[in-house]
Amino acid sequence: MRFILFLLLLSLIQAEQKLRFVQIWFRHGERTPTNYLSFPTDPPVDIDKLPSNKGELTQTGINQEYTLGQTFKEEYGEFLGEYKSDKIVVHTGEDNRTIVSGQAMLAGLFPPKVRVIADLPWQPIPIHSRGNLDEVSFGIIGECEGLEKKVKENPRYQGMMDKIDPSLLEILRNKTGLPIEDPYQYQNVLDSLKTKYSLNSTALPFPQWALPLAPALNNYSTEIHTQMTHLLNESSGGFHADILLSSIEQQLLLPTRKAFFISGHDTNLFVLGQFFRAKVLTADLCKYAAHLAIEVYEDTTVPVTPDSITIKFFYSYNLTAPREEVTIPACEEPCTLGKMQKITEGKRWSERRWRDFCEKGEDTNGEKETIGNGVLTGSLLIAVAILVLTSIVLLYLTCSYRKQLEALRDPEQRPLIS
Ligand SMILES: *[C@@H]1O[C@H](CO)[C@@H](O)[C@H](O)[C@H]1NC(C)=O
Ligand SMILES: *[C@@H]1O[C@H](CO)[C@@H](O)[C@H](O)[C@H]1NC(C)=O
Ligand SMILES: *[C@@H]1O[C@H](CO)[C@@H](O)[C@H](O)[C@H]1NC(C)=O
Ligand SMILES: *[C@@H]1O[C@H](CO)[C@@H](O)[C@H](O)[C@H]1NC(C)=O
Ligand SMILES: *[C@@H]1O[C@H](CO)[C@@H](O)[C@H](O)[C@H]1NC(C)=O
Ligand SMILES: *[C@@H]1O[C@H](CO)[C@@H](O)[C@H](O)[C@H]1NC(C)=O
Repeated sequence: MRFILFLLLLSLIQAEQKLRFVQIWFRHGERTPTNYLSFPTDPPVDIDKLPSNKGELTQTGINQEYTLGQTFKEEYGEFLGEYKSDKIVVHTGEDNRTIVSGQAMLAGLFPPKVRVIADLPWQPIPIHSRGNLDEVSFGIIGECEGLEKKVKENPRYQGMMDKIDPSLLEILRNKTGLPIEDPYQYQNVLDSLKTKYSLNSTALPFPQWALPLAPALNNYSTEIHTQMTHLLNESSGGFHADILLSSIEQQLLLPTRKAFFISGHDTNLFVLGQFFRAKVLTADLCKYAAHLAIEVYEDTTVPVTPDSITIKFFYSYNLTAPREEVTIPACEEPCTLGKMQKITEGKRWSERRWRDFCEKGEDTNGEKETIGNGVLTGSLLIAVAILVLTSIVLLYLTCSYRKQLEALRDPEQRPLIS
């Protein structure tokens, strides 16, 4: 009896999941406003006194990301070990702040064990920029020509203005001197206010008139991004879900791979939250240096199949917030890769499909991808070759029959004795 209990216990222990790799989406650090450093009604800003150029990280922002890297080291340092190029992949947007954030984070996560550069406790680690991480929520504007046009024509887009408290709009228009005629401009005004409020810098002062609005700015901002991301949930959400899942699928094939980092924006996490209906991610836009860690576990006692791979999600709303486990309503525990694949079946958007949609504003359904697919191209080639060969043979046969026919008809060539 005791032996059986022991065996049971042993099997329980053995069935324990082993961390296979981790995927982390994180937001850049503190930055200056992306659009309005000042409003038309403000005194001009002294560019030389700015903490950084427009939309770039501040020194605080860089330090936040460095600290974030140290936090990751605390959490995963033992698992990751020393830096090796086959262990990790880092993707960032093309926005400078996401690139700089990736670099600062890596400085905190992988300080070299021995000096690589004599004077500097730092080692260079490659990062890869992909602009499609910036094409999210209002980030499509100015980046996605076709989609921007389509969105602006969509009645739901203009309708977003009708949902804004008219007295709020009146105050904003009056005090900023901006017409604020579309949701994009409205969001940029909010962003400028929100950013300046948290910067608390004398070089970019928060306007006195906006003080009464300060407590509600997050709510307004979350509200407008919620509507914008709902508008693009299927496409942008489907694309984000595909990045998340395809990287898990691909990395399972790479035995030495341990981590995939994505340095992006608050809206990348927000879109994932909308797509998977994870409330905690969409209650509020996350703060600087927030992150979503996706831990992928394998059961070492059974062969690797999508159903034996378990996935856990952890969210940290800001740099210092303790991580909380995120549940995905449609993927009940244990949430496996198999379940994730099932709930996203037919809903994932490949990178190519998103790119076409972004450029043209039309869903090509990744058509080109299927045609460009190796197997299909191969069989197409064979089919064409067969067709051409058959035509040649037929043509030859027809010609030779015709010759014989003509020869028969031609009196000159008729055999003399018939
Ligand atoms: C990035 O920095 C360059 C200058 O180095 C600047 O011209 C550009 O506007 C910045 N772009 C973004 C998207 O951050
Ligand atoms: C808008 O500005 C005008 C004149 O500058 C002022 O009379 C009016 O009260 C302002 N309205 C609001 C809502 O601030
Ligand atoms: C803003 O900075 C000033 C000093 O410049 C400080 O006294 C004040 O407490 C800060 N406010 C906030 C909200 O951090
Ligand atoms: C903003 O506040 C309003 C009113 O309190 C609330 O109904 C709404 O859900 C809030 N929106 C967000 C996105 O938090
Ligand atoms: C977004 O799309 C996914 C996939 O169709 C769906 O499951 C989810 O409920 C949608 N989210 C929202 C907020 O509509
Ligand atoms: C970070 O988030 C936690 C949890 O939401 C909150 O309690 C804390 O005040 C936040 N810290 C900062 C600096 O915003």
